Amino acid sequence: MIIRSIGALSLSLLTIVSLADENPNPAYQAFQQERGEASWINASADHPMANTAYRPIPPMDNFFSDPAKQALGFELFHEKRLSRDGTVACSSCHMGMLGGTDKLPVSRGIGGALGNRNAPTVFNSAFNFRQFWDGRAFDLDIQSLAPISNPVEMGHDLDAVLQWLANDSYYSEQFAAIYPDGLTAANLGNAIGQHTRDMTRTDSRFNQHLTSGATTLSEGELRGWQRFNEVGCVSCHNGINLGGNSYQKSGNVAALADTGMFGSADDGLYLRTGRNQDRQVFKVPSLNNVALTAPYFHDGSVATLEEAVRLMGELQAGRNLSNSDVADIVEFLGSLSSEFFAGMASRMSRMEIQGEMRQQMQHMNHTQHQGHHMNHARNSEAANQTSQEGH
Ligand code: HEC
Ligand code: HEC
Repeated sequence: MIIRSIGALSLSLLTIVSLADENPNPAYQAFQQERGEASWINASADHPMANTAYRPIPPMDNFFSDPAKQALGFELFHEKRLSRDGTVACSSCHMGMLGGTDKLPVSRGIGGALGNRNAPTVFNSAFNFRQFWDGRAFDLDIQSLAPISNPVEMGHDLDAVLQWLANDSYYSEQFAAIYPDGLTAANLGNAIGQHTRDMTRTDSRFNQHLTSGATTLSEGELRGWQRFNEVGCVSCHNGINLGGNSYQKSGNVAALADTGMFGSADDGLYLRTGRNQDRQVFKVPSLNNVALTAPYFHDGSVATLEEAVRLMGELQAGRNLSNSDVADIVEFLGSLSSEFFAGMASRMSRMEIQGEMRQQMQHMNHTQHQGHHMNHARNSEAANQTSQEGH
């Protein structure tokens, strides 16, 4: 009798559970129904990499769009007047010289407001299947509008920004000349997004290895790549960006709470889907240029790449990596840096030692905003450099 009623009870529990599954919450439904498109693979079946987990970074001219839109996007990316108090531009938190980041654990916006996430690099973000740590922006055009109204970033009102641009004779003329429907929110996002796409770098030694077949990797780097595959890092970090193409649990096999990360405070994908199993699920970050973008993880809580790799072994792959494995994998990850930016970053860190960095940056910020004219000159320089790198 007792057994039978337990049976009946568990049966009815089962019914409740399956009913719950048939009626997912509205947040999760909206998440599932978001428009999607296949991520860019760009390797045909006869490409030598076609049956591996890696994909070369497509050359720039594959998706090089209207140069006028990119030039406008370049200016807007550096435009501090898109922020409420005129102090913060996209480039304040995504600096080319700092690998496309701000090198802070979490970002600071207008009035020093503190955010709660680490700024990812903008370089090669065009190849992420979604943008942001929780993937809440479908593409770069949509992503570009989000920081403008984020209270801890640029803290402005999108309508007020559009009004300001409409009143600015230079910007209103540009939008009218470049876009058939002139100045709109969508076109503002598109112009900035065009510039972010333009921040694609193909000159890492790893990418040269994939594309040219030349021996561009050292013995240590090759050993590190092998361990990266054997240990299973590649199961989440694969494709063009060695990441950026799936959502995964942070703390896959061990709890984040046992580490120094404040991961438990950030619910990641759960904030979008409302499903318990999505707590602390994040978009797997790209590893291109990762050696240039310390500190690490969504909360910027880990200062060195060595520590980040060791923690990944433990939390994601269930392995205690030996010191030599950690060193080899770190060496391999170094081969994912754009050669151009790696050279720049090492010059920067020498300056940092001499305490000159801040002054230099202030100087640059000052000169950058002396007029549209100058931005145009800088932009054609940037475009030249990009097209050289693309080939
Ligand atoms: C105050 C600093 C700050 C400013 C200003 C800022 N960002 Fe960001 N950016 C961040 C942070 C922090 C994140 C991660 C936020 C998250 O995932 O919730 C981010 C994420 C991104 C991403 C997603 C990258 C990825 O891998 O998911 C892109 C692209 C980006 N920003 C571009 C821009 C553009 C374009 C602007 C200007 C319109 C801008 N950012 C302004 C700090 C900033
Ligand atoms: C189960 C999927 C998974 C596996 C396996 C995995 N990672 Fe990760 N990796 C992630 C996720 C998710 C994050 C973001 C975690 C966070 O910020 O909370 C991440 C972050 C990183 C970061 C920090 C990047 C940044 O910009 O902050 C590095 C470095 C890294 N992983 C390297 C590795 C290495 C090396 C291995 C193998 C030892 C590995 N990962 C295995 C999913 C994985």
